[in-house]
Amino acid sequence: MGKVAQEQRSQSKYFSLAESGAARDAERMRLTKSLSIIGGLLAGAILPAQAATSSQNATMKAVVLRAYGEPEMLKLEEMPRPEPKDDEILIRVIAASVNPVDVAIRKGYLAEIIGNKFPLVLGMDAAGVVEKTGAKITKFKKGDEVYAFFTLASEGGYAEYVIAKESETALKPKAITYAQAAAVGAAGSTAWQALIETAKLSSGQTILIHGGSGGVGHLAIQIAKARGAKVIATGSTANQDFLKQTGADVAIDYSKTKFEEIAKDVDVVLDSVGRDTLKRTYGVVKKGGIIVSIVDEPAQADLDAHGIRGVTLRSSPKADTLEELARLMEAKKLVPVVSETYPLADFNKALDQIATRHTRGKVVLQVADEPRS
Ligand SMILES: NC(=O)c1ccc[n+]([C@@H]2O[C@H](COP(=O)([O-])OP(=O)(O)OC[C@H]3O[C@@H](n4cnc5c(N)ncnc54)[C@H](OP(=O)(O)O)[C@@H]3O)[C@@H](O)[C@H]2O)c1
Repeated sequence: MGKVAQEQRSQSKYFSLAESGAARDAERMRLTKSLSIIGGLLAGAILPAQAATSSQNATMKAVVLRAYGEPEMLKLEEMPRPEPKDDEILIRVIAASVNPVDVAIRKGYLAEIIGNKFPLVLGMDAAGVVEKTGAKITKFKKGDEVYAFFTLASEGGYAEYVIAKESETALKPKAITYAQAAAVGAAGSTAWQALIETAKLSSGQTILIHGGSGGVGHLAIQIAKARGAKVIATGSTANQDFLKQTGADVAIDYSKTKFEEIAKDVDVVLDSVGRDTLKRTYGVVKKGGIIVSIVDEPAQADLDAHGIRGVTLRSSPKADTLEELARLMEAKKLVPVVSETYPLADFNKALDQIATRHTRGKVVLQVADEPRS
């Protein structure tokens, strides 16, 4: 498939525009709505790059967006290294993960939420070593190995240094690499907040996970198994073994089998696909059960007709979520899978991969060498 065709296909779920003008407007509205679902965390990840500089005029390399648009709008540049305020931590980034939303941001699909405050540094999460702490920081010290999922007060992770708050940072588990820790920030928090905080998944329940082989999905499968749930997960033909290896009790190849022929009376659904998949999901949920969608809005009429609940989740950076995930990783119950790493300079290759919407596990930018422990 050519690059352009691949790009078009990859964006189809959110970004494909219908051919007629009216349909295009409707699609744009739907897109804006869908993207606003993740707006809370997005706005946090992307901030103007002109943060306060250190007194020594230190600089760093960062992937900088100066206007919305095509991949050429992103450039690896030398820019001032941010200086932490009293309640902030400066992290030397070892790895940063690449999320589907990064592509949408570059294209300007979230301009209404983010605004036009250029230059911007992309990247919603990162793992690295604490370089410097502000005067009010008590939980972390220079040299700590940490990972973070960013909020409004933060810089982007596609850089050699990034600013984080204590409330969005946790110690990196020793058992995993920085690349794996970076992979968990946004995707793992989303999976945890969907399954545990929102759906209150419990032992013995059955969960259907749409998109089980992706960044969020492969972590959700493991979180659900650690909770003692039975997991049914969907994925393409190429990912059937991966779904099983990740822990799914039942793997469904969505290209060959309708999930509703196999999944019946489930307690919880994690929807990371939306649209037609969501429409076909209402009927497989047990009365009193719940659909948590991270990409779409469950229709109240359909929920009522089936006697079930539905929630659209916007995940948000929280240190306690990261600490829960870290505990699972320490216990080896959660093992993030990084299918590909790219050097920071190859950020556009990493973004091309995530834009396929068929990434297995996570794609990560390896910003610096993994330190030897
Ligand atoms: N609301 C929030 O807070 C929030 C947070 C994070 C992510 N998100 C959104 O959630 C979505 C998933 O994120 P992600 O990071 O997991 O993306 P990802 O890493 O790109 O994974 C997407 C997965 O979807 C699978 N897939 C594609 N079409 C499918 C279908 N018809 N049925 C079942 N699976 C299908 C793909 O598997 P195959 O390759 O096997 O097809 C792929 O593994 C994205 O749209 C992202 O923007 C929302």
